[in-house]
Formats: sequence, C-alpha cells, structure tokens
Amino acid sequence: MDSDTRELVDATLHQNLSGAGLDPRYVRAEGDSLWARATDGSEAEVTDFVGGYGSLLLGHNDPEIVARATELLAARTPIHSQFSRRPEADAVAGVLNTIAHRELGTSQTYYGVFANSGAEAVEAAVKHAEMDRGLRMQARLTEIAEHTGRAREAAGQGASASAEALARYGVTATGDRAADLEALLAAAEARNAATAAAAPVILTLEGGFHGKLAGSVQLTYNPAFREPFGTLAAPARFVPVNAADAVRTAFESESAVLLDPVVDGDTVRVEEVPAPVFCAFFAEPIQGEGGIVPLTEEFAKEIAAVSAEFDCPVVVDEIQSGSGRTGAFFAASHIGLKGDYITLAKSLAGGVAKLSVLLVAESRYRPEFEMVHSSTFARDGFSTLIALKTLEVMERDGGAVYRRAAERGERLRGALESVRRDFPEAVADVRGKGLLLGLELRDQSASPSESIAGAQGADILGYLVSGFLLHEHRVRVLPTGSASNTLRMQPSVGISDERIDRLETGLRAVCAALRDADEATLLGYLGTRTF
Ligand code: F0G
Repeated sequence: MDSDTRELVDATLHQNLSGAGLDPRYVRAEGDSLWARATDGSEAEVTDFVGGYGSLLLGHNDPEIVARATELLAARTPIHSQFSRRPEADAVAGVLNTIAHRELGTSQTYYGVFANSGAEAVEAAVKHAEMDRGLRMQARLTEIAEHTGRAREAAGQGASASAEALARYGVTATGDRAADLEALLAAAEARNAATAAAAPVILTLEGGFHGKLAGSVQLTYNPAFREPFGTLAAPARFVPVNAADAVRTAFESESAVLLDPVVDGDTVRVEEVPAPVFCAFFAEPIQGEGGIVPLTEEFAKEIAAVSAEFDCPVVVDEIQSGSGRTGAFFAASHIGLKGDYITLAKSLAGGVAKLSVLLVAESRYRPEFEMVHSSTFARDGFSTLIALKTLEVMERDGGAVYRRAAERGERLRGALESVRRDFPEAVADVRGKGLLLGLELRDQSASPSESIAGAQGADILGYLVSGFLLHEHRVRVLPTGSASNTLRMQPSVGISDERIDRLETGLRAVCAALRDADEATLLGYLGTRTF
C-alpha cells in the first residue's frame, strides 16, 4: 500500500473547516440524526439542521424511500436504458403538473427536462431559453429580410430612402437615390446582424444562487464564486432584490431594437421593432444560499409583469425552496409567482437519489430542444422511480407532509423568534418560511473580544458559532455560503420538539456569549472537542 497519507480530495477546504471544528466524519444517518466517529472510537449523535442543504425534507434515509430503493435494486429494475421510452419520467412530470395546476392556479401544461443536479437543471433552462430566443430572433430576421427584399424591389422602381432614416442611421446622402437607399438597407442589415450576434441578456437577482457550473455560476451573485470564471459564459445582469422599481429599469436599459425597412409609397422608412435580446429572468422565491431572503409578493408581481411585457421568460428556481419545504410544494405559490420555467432538485428524490428536473410551460416549449440536449445519467430508472415514490409520500393524505412542514416550521420559527426577543443585541433577524429558516447574527466587528471581532473581520464567525453548537450542543447548523452571519435551519418534517429545544438552548448560549464578549465560552470547544 502507498504510504503517502495526504488527503487527495478537498484537503484545503477540510483544513479550513477543521479550524472551526467542522470536520468530523459522519458514519451513520437516520431521520434528523447524524452519528460522528468520536476520537475514542464511539459514535456521537448530532441533530442535523443542515439537512443536506435542503435535500432531506423527509430526513436521512427515510425508511419508506430506503425500502423502495432496496426493492428497485432487488427487482433488477433497469437503471440505464437510454434512448428508449421511460414512462416513469412521464409519471413524475404528470404529478408535478397536477401540483402546479393546484398550487399555481395555472392550467398550462409543463413539459419535463430531466437532469442530475440543481446547476444542471438551471443550465438546461438557460439553454432552452436561449434556443427559444434564437428561434424568435431568427423568425424576426426572416420577416425583416422579406421587407428588405421588398425595399430593394421598390428601389428598382424609383423609391428613395427617407432623409430622416439616412440621417438617423449615419448614412451620408450622396444624391444617388438608388445608392443611398442601398446604403441605408446595408446599414440596417449590419446593425441587425450585430444585435443578433450579441450575447443574450440574462437577468437575475443580487444575492441569488443558481449553481456553480460554467454557465450557472454567472447567475450566482457571489463575486468570489463567479468572477474567476467570467470569461466562460454570458454574464448576467443583477437586479437588487425586493426593489420593485429596479426591474423595469434593468429591462429598459438592456432592451434593443431591430431595424425593419418599410416601403411607404415611393419612400423607404425604417421602423425600430423590439429585438428579442432577453433570454430569461431567474429568481428564487426564497433566496437560500444568499441568506434566506424571501421575495415579497409585490416584487414577484413586478418581475412577472415586466418580464411578460418584454417577452422574457421567468425561471423560478425552486431547487432549494421547492419540493414541499415551505408548507406548499412550490414556495412560489405563496407569492403568486407563476414561472415559464421551474427548476427542482434536492428533496425531489427523497434524499436518497440525485435528480433534478426543469419544467417548461407549453407556451414556451420548443420540441427541437429534445434533439440537442441530453445527459447519460438524466432520468435514470432508479432516481426517477425514487422521485415518483417521494412525490407519492408528499402528496398522500391530502398533503400531510406540507402541513407538517408548515407546522414544524412554525414551531422552529417560534424558538428562533424567542431567542431574538431575548437577545436583540445578538440577533439581527429571523427570516424564511416553513422549514427554510435563517437566523442572522448581528455584526460583531465592535466586540470587546478580540477573537470574536477578529472572527467577524475574517468572515468566519458563523462557522465558529456552528462549531460551538456542534460540539457543545450536538446540533449541526451551517451559515449560508454567501451570507456567513446567517445560520440556516432546514431540518426534516420529522424534527421533534425536543431537538428544536436543544437548538434553542444552544442558540441562547451563543447569543449570551456574543453579548458578553465571552470568547472563552464560545471558542472553548476548539481545545476540548471529542469528535
Ligand atoms: N439553485 C438553488 C436555488 C440552489 O440552492 C442550489 C444549490 C442550486 C441551484 C445548485 O444546485 O448544488 O445541485 O448544483 N444550493 C446549495 C446551497 C449549494 O448551499 O444551498 P446543485
């Protein structure tokens, strides 16, 4: 055996995590419990509020989902049968349509495009929307080419260019009627070709997170994730969140026109018609990774209305907020946001398989896409049937899982609110809905404790607080990736009162330590950790 014991995967990340005690090895998982291997070889039970970044609405290794997985494997169910009919995918899309019609108040059919991860579903949305935009652009250019042909015919019959058009598009009149008109038409063609060749306009929100692949990372706000890869894909235009006026401003400043020649008697004019430059507007109903920030109903309405006005499809990213987490299957249903596209992943496959899906409304759907987009693993038999089982569990008993998410969410929220009430100097805010909740700690830069102020300055306070909660209170939380003073809480629908109370006790200890600048209590675990 090789004696080199270097860690070959994410060693640097793990070293950083170990600085906050966040690098235990978990060896078993069930419900809301994870068991870590302790230094003495025993197992230490921890309550998991991270919930697989939102993949575990049904908890770790839910018995029913595990039983179904075992059954599928034992029955030698085809996992890979690419390029064949796969009715289980239709069944999943069918249930998702039923839910969408019920919750979103739409009767549109949504077609399904399957993928493996959240970012992949987002990229499928970008690709589909761009294909649709390209086809719309092509249709416009074909019409304009016909009009240009008519204008050239008219030129042969003595028509001339309007003086206003020549001046407006920078064509110097030579006095040669036919040459001037041809120069105008050529200028319009060149301008249109440049407009058609320009990168699409993709709008999204400040603080948003849509994945980390080459295309999707450009829709993710955090500059540290996005900027090193800016040369790889079209950049997005970021709109401030919950600032209704900003939506129209963004559209107006990004809009462009195509030049359309019109024969008017013996004059050829040029009309400016809207160019289909808008690829898509991406939004999470509740921003997750960016700090648990719900969109207001007013803002969601503005996104929908202005996007429709500019013929820009709305992509509602429900990868984290969806699949039942907020008390409804779609978090967008709480704010009346009907997407042209919807993305789902995470809890969709019951925390056991990896599956994502993009839903595309019939009004936008392009069947051509099916011939050019695929992935070896997308809608494999195993993951798709696990998703079907998950949906069955969620939908049965009139949606008892959603009611439970709402009820448990209220219970958890009550605990967080009571901490906020008692420690206003430590807690800035409590946000979210259902079992997608965040508690924002106040900035501690001015703490009399040098260690606490220093941790805030280094943007690692949320990680140290998470380490304290893990080792001193056996509860696992993490800060959101792009807002590190916000602790995220996304347990399963099975989370018990006792476990919520344990979290509350831990948070109270954190807040008291922050209030009292008590670094010995807050950071003591680093010297005494046992797992
Ligand atoms: N969209 C949203 C809203 C997400 O929360 C995530 C992932 C993705 C897309 C990408 O999905 O990781 O399967 O490729 N969010 C994680 C988080 C990373 O921290 O909440 P992925």
